[in-house]
Amino acid sequence: MKKFYPVVFLFFLTAVTLRSQSISLDKLDLSSMECGWGTPEADKSVEGNPLSIAGKKYEHGIGTHAVSTYLLNINGKGKRLVAEVGLDDEANNKGSVEFYVLGDKKVLWQSGIMKKGNEAKKIDISIAGIKKLGLLVTDAGDGIDYDHADWCDPVIELTENIHAAALINKIVNVPYILTPAESAKPKINGAGVFGVRPGHPFLYTIAATGERPMSFSAENLPDGLILNNNTGIITGKISREGDYVVTLIAKNNLGKAERKFIIKAGDKICLTPPMGWNSWNCWATSVDASKVEAAADAMVKTGLINHGWTYINIDDCWSIKPDSKDSLTMGTPRDKNGMINSNKKFPGMKALTGYVHSKGLKIGIYSSPGPLTCAGYTACYQHEYKDAEQFANWGFDYLKYDWCSYGNIAKDNSLPELEKPYMLMREALNKVDRDIVYSLCQYGMGDVWKWGSEVGGNLWRTTGDISDSWSSMAGIGFNQAGHEKYAGPGHWNDPDMLVVGLVGWGPELHPTRLTPDEQYTHISLWCLLSAPLLIGCDLNRIDKFTLSLLSNDEVIAVDQDPLGRQAERIYNKDGKQIWVKELTDGSKAVGLFYTGENSKSPSGYFMWNGKKRKSKIILTADELGISGKFKVRDIWRQKYLGVFINKFEALVPYHGVVLIKVSKAG
Ligand code: GAL
Repeated sequence: MKKFYPVVFLFFLTAVTLRSQSISLDKLDLSSMECGWGTPEADKSVEGNPLSIAGKKYEHGIGTHAVSTYLLNINGKGKRLVAEVGLDDEANNKGSVEFYVLGDKKVLWQSGIMKKGNEAKKIDISIAGIKKLGLLVTDAGDGIDYDHADWCDPVIELTENIHAAALINKIVNVPYILTPAESAKPKINGAGVFGVRPGHPFLYTIAATGERPMSFSAENLPDGLILNNNTGIITGKISREGDYVVTLIAKNNLGKAERKFIIKAGDKICLTPPMGWNSWNCWATSVDASKVEAAADAMVKTGLINHGWTYINIDDCWSIKPDSKDSLTMGTPRDKNGMINSNKKFPGMKALTGYVHSKGLKIGIYSSPGPLTCAGYTACYQHEYKDAEQFANWGFDYLKYDWCSYGNIAKDNSLPELEKPYMLMREALNKVDRDIVYSLCQYGMGDVWKWGSEVGGNLWRTTGDISDSWSSMAGIGFNQAGHEKYAGPGHWNDPDMLVVGLVGWGPELHPTRLTPDEQYTHISLWCLLSAPLLIGCDLNRIDKFTLSLLSNDEVIAVDQDPLGRQAERIYNKDGKQIWVKELTDGSKAVGLFYTGENSKSPSGYFMWNGKKRKSKIILTADELGISGKFKVRDIWRQKYLGVFINKFEALVPYHGVVLIKVSKAG
């Protein structure tokens, strides 16, 4: 009997808190709230600080980030909604947001554009009769940077008791695989062209799917190169410049595949966008050598290497952290000769690069032109030549060169000051006897796409960091329009890394918050953009769906097309976009995207009935510059859809894509 009272009391307490007539929204399960960056927080800002708008502090509320949506099932039992909203004080002057309250697709309340320092706006509106209540924060049309948005003291009053859990509108997104199953017969994949500098070490692995054992051979391999017939790994050095047309052959018990492969020995490398893995989006500061080795192992074990995935790139946090209290990262930044040291998490760089190379993969490293990297680790300032030498001695094939603390060195943001550190490292890299892909990472400052190639970059980031949300990914991807004229073989625009699979900026990881349709959009768009493809997830725990996204050879071929054209946007209206990329064989890859967002209809941000909306997108032959009949192939499904006259129509899922290849028929 004694135990009975607490149980009754608990039941009573639960009933009171969960079945009351007014519900504080910060007490609800926020997992279905979409948030453009970070995670929505109850009673805190999105960065975990006390909620604060124009100096006024709030104990209760929700801290989120544009673009943010939250759909609640009120079922006609609502009376009023009250809240105070605004941009959190932790944002800087770049932030600007607009809050909306929607009831059954109609706008009930709208804040107008709100910036830092604007006093909170009060919402006190009737929600009588509303079935679905939508809370929306948009980026006010200028991108999501610093859009930290607060819903403070948000309370809904109800006419009768509803269980708090019943208010939550859970959307279940079931992944669906479009990539056809791999054939057991041999098939050679990957880019058909490869650049190398004469006299520099050559490493290329024939990417081939099909049952093992498989044997490899090559016709017309240039002098100086050796192919390992069992592994398909080609090594050596080419001494003379020239274009070498090689025939690659892969055989297994079920058959034989052959493919032309052009080796261009000259002054250009990175003739197609680099494909690989980078540690940042998954492990961030918790990276270590064993995680990097594990990524290389997984690249092979998962079979991704057979689709052309090549680089295993270490991001920040491998060098000594001068102010560190952690025995793993503290130490002497450089040896007595000024050569940079790795920290104890990376005890043997040479052994590590050797390990990765032995798998037929390449390996990358990261640094900054300033004294410190973005995470505060030793970087290259005033040691550029020594560091390039050390990277080459260690055996690295790729350098991502960030900006961060160089901001304190540069005199100003003028073009010469922005270019200077990148030119200096270029000179240093030119002195080493290794091909090192040079990746500039300064977030697009000074329109880097206009000069990244001139300073010798093979790729340059065009944006800030990506995160695993629709507004981040789509905000970056769809903003690449206009950059197409700056990309081409050897020099690429880089809209940042892929956020599919288990990501999390470590050590804790979570499944990407992009829906399956959004992930199809992400991969399709990046391939149309001829973007570097750097997987940001834990490859050792990759699921079937993610693997299917990363192993569709026809999709990858769009990215790796040797012509190196970046797609152009030819249509952008009412939440629908069409992007077209010219391919070497005269055909065109076309992405039909239904982004749904439309400034004229904020209701487009929500899936009101929990079901995927679809929208019809029409592509005309005129838009493509093709007259009359054209053939259409569905690239993800790898199936011909038929011959069409003058136009092609597709039903495109919300936030999704239909990716096709179009060529003139007859
Ligand atoms: C950022 C960069 C990220 C990651 C990070 C490491 O500046 O954009 O991709 O490299 O630094 O600290």
